[in-house]
This record gives sequence, C-alpha cells and structure tokens, in this order.
Amino acid sequence: MQGRIPEDKIQEIRDRVDIVDVVSSYLTLKRSGANHQGLCPFHNEKTPSFNVNAPRQIFHCFGCGVGGNVFGFLMRMEGLSFPEAVRRLGERAGVEIETEELSAAEMARREERERLYRVSEVACAFYHQVLLDAPEAAPARRYLRERGYSGEAARAFRLGFAPPQWEALARHLEQKGFDPELARTLGLIRPGKQDRGDYDLFRNRLLFPILDSRGKVVAFGGRVLDDSLPKYINSSESPIYHKGRTLYGLYQAKEAMRQTGEVIVVEGYFDQLALHRAGVINTLATCGTALTEDHARLLKRYAKRAQLLFDQDPAGQKATFRALEVLAAEGVPATVVALDAGEDPDSFVQRHGAEAFGERLRQARPAIEVFMDVTLGEQGSSIDGQARAVEEILGLLQRLPNEIERDLYLKSLAKKTGLQEDLLRSKASRVERPAPAAPRPVAPRPAPVPAPRPPRPRRDEPTQGEKAQQWLLVMMLRDGKVRQRVAAEGLDQLFCDAEYLAVAERILQLQGDAEALQQALIGEDLHDEQKGILSGILIKDGEAFAEDTEGIFEGCHRATERDRLQRRLKQLRELMRQAEQAGELEQCTAFLRELSEIKKRL
Ligand code: UTP
Ligand code: MN
Repeated sequence: MQGRIPEDKIQEIRDRVDIVDVVSSYLTLKRSGANHQGLCPFHNEKTPSFNVNAPRQIFHCFGCGVGGNVFGFLMRMEGLSFPEAVRRLGERAGVEIETEELSAAEMARREERERLYRVSEVACAFYHQVLLDAPEAAPARRYLRERGYSGEAARAFRLGFAPPQWEALARHLEQKGFDPELARTLGLIRPGKQDRGDYDLFRNRLLFPILDSRGKVVAFGGRVLDDSLPKYINSSESPIYHKGRTLYGLYQAKEAMRQTGEVIVVEGYFDQLALHRAGVINTLATCGTALTEDHARLLKRYAKRAQLLFDQDPAGQKATFRALEVLAAEGVPATVVALDAGEDPDSFVQRHGAEAFGERLRQARPAIEVFMDVTLGEQGSSIDGQARAVEEILGLLQRLPNEIERDLYLKSLAKKTGLQEDLLRSKASRVERPAPAAPRPVAPRPAPVPAPRPPRPRRDEPTQGEKAQQWLLVMMLRDGKVRQRVAAEGLDQLFCDAEYLAVAERILQLQGDAEALQQALIGEDLHDEQKGILSGILIKDGEAFAEDTEGIFEGCHRATERDRLQRRLKQLRELMRQAEQAGELEQCTAFLRELSEIKKRL
C-alpha cells in the first residue's frame, strides 16, 4: 500500500477535525452534560448509550463497549484501515498528505491503479449495456429470466453480457482511446498470436462484476449460458484485484452486516444474488476460492459472527470446515446452515421461499459442533479411528484464541467421546497457541503486538468485578498515589480480567497522562476491546467522584478478589462432578476441601 503517514500529519488532522462533527454526519447527537449522545451505530438499541466527548475527542458506547477516537470511529463505520481513515479525514480537513513525499515509482504505481480502475469501470458499463440492450444478448436475458432474475436484478448488480465475438471489448476500449496494455494487465484482453490483434477473455458469458469494498469494479466472473465447461472463468489477478482479499457482494452487504453483526458466506455468485433478492442482504461470496485469512479479517471489520452456507456436497463440506478453521483462528464464531442434499442457497430459495430460508438460518448449528460430529462419525468407531478424529478436533480447538470458548468445546468433546476432560485439556494445550491470553508481567515493557482476538460476548451489565476494575482504572488515571499502590500490590492481584490488566499496564506505563492515553486510542497497539475499556474510563473521568479514594480502592480490591474466587468455585464444582463420575474419591475430597475453604473466605 501507500507509504507511512508521518506522525505530525496525523496530529494535524486530529487537531483540525472535530469528532462531534464527524460522528454527526452519521447519526443524530444530542448534548447531554459533558457528552453528546446518540443511538449507537454499532449495535441495535432503542435508548442512546453512545457517547461522544468533545474535550477528549473520543467516543464510547456503554451498550456494546466499543470506543476510540475519531480515526477509530471512521475505521469501524466505514470498515477502513488506519491509514485509510487518516487519509479520509485528511481530505475532510484539507490536510495534504505526502503527495510530495511519494517516490516517483510509487506515484507511477498509483496512477496505474487509477487507470486500471477506469478501464474496469468502462468495461463493466460496456458489458452491462450489452446485456440490457443488444440483440445478441437475448439468450443471456432469457437465461436470467429462466432463473428468476428480472432486469431490476441485472441493474442492481450491474450484470453484463460478453458478446460471442472475439474482439468486442478490445474494439470498444480502442475506440475509447485506452491503452490496450491496461486491459491486458487486467486480463480482460489477451495478445493474439503472430500478427493477430488482442482478443477478449470473456466471450458469450454472463458477467458478474466484482467490486472492492469501496464499490469500484476490479474484476469479473463469467458464467456460460449452458452446460459447457468451464462453468465460470474469472479475471486474473492484477494490481487492483486479489481474489484472496476480495469478497463478492461486500460493498452491497456491509451496511447490513454492521447492523446485524452477522454475515452469511456462500460459495457462488448466484447464491449471493438469490439471497440478496430474498432480502438476506448481509451475504457474501468468495470469488471462486477458499476463504482466506485476509477474507476473515476483512469481514471481521463489519460482522462479529459468520454463518457458513456452502453447497451441500462433499466439496462444500470440505470448504465449510476449511472456512471454519480460518475463522476460528481469527476469533470469528461460525455457524453452519444446513440445506437438503444437493441444494444450494439459490435453488433452496427458488423452491421453498424466503421464509423457509429464514427458518434454516435460525436452525444453524455452531460450526465446531458440526465439525466434531462429522469428524467423529467419519473415522468410524474403531479405537484407532476415534483417536485420529480426536487429534484432528484438538488440532482445531488449539487454534481458538478464546480460552473460555476452547474450554467449553473441550467439555463438549469429552462428553461426546467419553474421554477424560483433563486428558483432552493437557493434549490441547501442548501445541503453541497463537494468542496467549495469560496475565502479563507487571513491569512496563514495549507495547505488545495485539493478537487477533474474538469480540468478547457482551453482557448487558458489567459484573461487580468488571465495575470494580473500571473504577480502579479511573482512579489510576487521576491519582499518582493510586498508581503507586497498584504497582506495589501488583497488577495481577487487582485485575483478574486480561483486558483490564492490559489497560492498567498502559496507564502505569504512561503515568496516567490522559493526553498520552488518548494517543493510545490511535493506531494498533491496543486491540479493540482494550480501546473500548480505555475510552470508557476516559469518558468516566469527567464524572463527579466524591467518595473516599482509599475506601473505593479497598472495595475494588475485594470485589476483584471475590470475582476470582467465584471463578475458581465454579471450576471446582465442575471438576468435582467429573471426579465423581470417574469415581476418583480422593480427588473429589481434595476439591471439596478447597471448595469449602473458598466459601468461607467469600
Ligand atoms: P458453483 O458451481 O456452485 O456455481 O460454484 P454457482 O455460483 O452455484 O452457479 P450456478 O448456480 O450453478 O449457476 C461456486 C463458485 O465457484 C466458482 C465461482 O465463483 C462460483 O460462483 N467457480 C465455479 C469458478 O470459479 N469456476 C468454475 O468453473 C466453477
Ligand atoms: Mn452452487
């Protein structure tokens, strides 16, 4: 991508834009005390819990916990990367970014990309017009009609038709004066052998334009109108198109994804079309490729959960589990929607209608559960087979970045197989995990690189322990003595939640400097949940706070301790249940002893 944006430019932009202005262009804000309030654009709510604080230039939603500064807001709202958000706001604020700092090579590359976008757009318009008007596109129009799609659908998705001639697009572009090299780079035309001119890649095919997340045409997928092969051909990769990073339908789906927090991933262009037409707008398809890590990260910008809806055949199942693996590693929970054998979403909706489809969506099962059942079933009941199946399943569970989730699935696996949970747990932890969630050492140290993490399921009300940690953070922000004491007692004695712990660590590191902490909302050092916590306490910091600091500190300390004991209690109960089942009386007694001890302390 483009070069790094200099720090002072980011500052300048931050100083020049007002977060209240920016947010107001997306939602209505009303003044309320020190803050502005409105309905949160990131989750569904009826009473406003979304706050914008002008003095600190931050936002925070007390409903869903997200928060950050103006760049973070735009990143979430528009699904942009950090540099993209900076650039966008730079334009708004009239801050010129680094045009002169670009190297000549970079300038040339950028210009080429712009020209490629233009050629793609012209090609798309050309094919679309052919589909709508040209006599030679009659078979394509008939084909669409037979599959139940009207001109309206064709317009909405800018479908096109590549006429049967060898040089229709090549000529069209030539007439418009485009350098043929550009269309060659896009793979839309190819140089002919010997003296013959360029010829078109797409001939006699129905075309699906593929848009990037900003709605620019970057490629095409083309389907034959009959049973000949290959059924589809796709544009080749180019400087503006990487299929591993592009999701078909994202541009149309992203708003609905953000609203519902969910995305439905399907296999085919036609599936996407069918669901969209059935009113299921938060639908995406990959472009003739398996779901990649980049895809997962991209869709995570807009949705929290994914529903996988692939063809009901062996290939589709394989693709489902592959996608599950990728999503699980990115911390995106996935469910599997089952249709009848041989169906795909397109055929299902045609046959049974949108309502029946909605019912299937509601019946979706957690993908990991499905994976466990299928894997255990597939390997047969021999000891050998079951052992292999369990290994395979553990391989997946090891990749789950969320420990609680991993634990729950280990329990479920133990139940399904009758194996000891402890055994499974020890096997599952043996392999290096990508995102250790263990409490971190207390000493200040360089900013940790954020590991990909799942959005934690939000409870409506924070627990006592969470509230305690929040207030303790607020006090740390205000009071150097509190910070000293926290440091002396040890962060991990006070913060049982790794996210709060990370924020506390940062506050110590920056010695409670609110300005510097606001800076920490920029960029990528903290991950989203931590930013949410930090914006929450920065906003709270303005509230009146009359009580005795020492008293609150003690209360916090106790609540945190209690929270921890309660967790252990819950764990012990489960451990006892298992020990009982396994007839391990000695262990059971030991657990019981610890349990009553904890109860006493509580
Ligand atoms: P499908 O064969 O399931 O096609 O391939 P489909 O989209 O459901 O189309 P219909 O309903 O049969 O007409 C799923 C996706 O795999 C890619 C395309 O992206 C397609 O949408 N694919 C398939 C190819 O890239 N090339 C092929 O030859 C076949
Ligand atoms: Mn299909």
